[in-house]
Amino acid sequence: MDETLEKTEGGEKRGSAPEDVKILAFLCNWCSYAGADLAGVSRLQYPPNVVDIRVMCTGTISPYYVLKAFQEGIDGVLIAGCHIGDCHYDKGNYMTAKRFRVLKDILAAAGIDPRRIRLEWVSAAEGAKFQDVITSFTEQVRAAGPSPLAPKRGK
Ligand code: FES
Repeated sequence: MDETLEKTEGGEKRGSAPEDVKILAFLCNWCSYAGADLAGVSRLQYPPNVVDIRVMCTGTISPYYVLKAFQEGIDGVLIAGCHIGDCHYDKGNYMTAKRFRVLKDILAAAGIDPRRIRLEWVSAAEGAKFQDVITSFTEQVRAAGPSPLAPKRGK
């Protein structure tokens, strides 16, 4: 048996190589995107499975975007923004924190493993934290396996 195969939520066996999971990261322009940039210029290594979408504030992220990402075959969604109290639009990240709790319930009701979504606060000065978040979240999503909603890959 191929040791790179793992059983997924759907009971199928799929590869667990790093390139097998796709992660979408919504990053707030002012903090987390700048933190990602700092990680890049500092040459900090992290898994390449992540596609970033820069948003002006996490408060602009509709739960619909997250649901749509899963529908389109994404295996994990990260939302990262300014620390509580540091939002450049005052209360955007407070709204995000509240919405996130509801979003997790909606995803659970839809049968999506809660390991597939994460909310983090990463400042512009926290390149190393950004690296840690991406690395640990990628491992978490790999443990969940490819999304049961994702089209089969590699065939
Ligand atoms: Fe960063 Fe609002 S501006 S979370």
